[in-house]
Amino acid sequence: MNNDAMIEYWNGEAGQKWVDQSNRLDTMLAPFADQVLDAAAIQSGERALDVGCGAGVLTLGATERAGGETGSLGVDVSAPLLDLARKRASEAGSPATFERADASTFTVEDKLDLMISRFGVMFFEEPDTAFANIRAQIRSGGRMAFMCWQALPMNDWAFAPFQAALPLLKQAPPTPDPTAPGPFAFADKDRVAGLMADAGWRDVSIEPFTTQMTLPGGDVETSARFMLQLGPLSRLIAEQDLDPQAILTAVIDRLSSSVQADGQVAMASACWLVRAKA
Ligand SMILES: C[S@@+](CC[C@H](N)C(=O)[O-])C[C@H]1O[C@@H](n2cnc3c(N)ncnc32)[C@H](O)[C@@H]1O
Repeated sequence: MNNDAMIEYWNGEAGQKWVDQSNRLDTMLAPFADQVLDAAAIQSGERALDVGCGAGVLTLGATERAGGETGSLGVDVSAPLLDLARKRASEAGSPATFERADASTFTVEDKLDLMISRFGVMFFEEPDTAFANIRAQIRSGGRMAFMCWQALPMNDWAFAPFQAALPLLKQAPPTPDPTAPGPFAFADKDRVAGLMADAGWRDVSIEPFTTQMTLPGGDVETSARFMLQLGPLSRLIAEQDLDPQAILTAVIDRLSSSVQADGQVAMASACWLVRAKA
């Protein structure tokens, strides 16, 4: 098995949308980056391997926490996201480096101190093989800390817009395989623990992290438009040739109950913070 389908996906429209929305996404996902970096407890001079680094925020953060002299390494398959990551590093004068590679097969000459990731590790066809390969790039005595999503119904920010759109679909979406590569592939904590153990990681700990996530946009319509652009809804609208305005109205209606005093929309999110030793 290979990761060709996901590689194509992240180099196509999806990758470009993440680039276009990168500042808003990074603001929305900032609390999760902080959690991973805190859990990683990066020491001065250490180098982290950021798997599925996207536009590089975590790689840059890890480099800064290590003192800013030694560059961490971000690995990703997406050319457009890596272009943005390199631009950000250059603008920040950061020694962080980025490599276009499939993390399940790539190798390094100088092993790194630790592996980190914010939502970049759920896209492998064979996660046990991928995590064994990633472990082989980390020095003995090294460690890992990554964040992945719990199940979709625990993540109202993604589930609620989807539910709002359901009555407007021309046909019911296929029931997804819960372990298929995708954002929610690591929802089952016991499965993740087993995968990490099979891949040779030791002392695996998996803790919940839940928070109210503030969606981009200062008002409910902007937030709803954002949710329609990224993720499963945008794909369904295209696949089923749906009326985007009708879906938008339904999503605005559903998100209205989550508007805060400042006009922003905040919704429940639930993740796993996974830690282990190499
Ligand atoms: C949800 S995005 C997260 C990006 C980034 N970590 C962040 O938090 O902004 C998932 C990332 O994983 C990358 N990815 C998917 N499969 C990969 C693979 N086999 N090897 C390396 N990166 C991969 C995608 O290209 C994408 O940038």
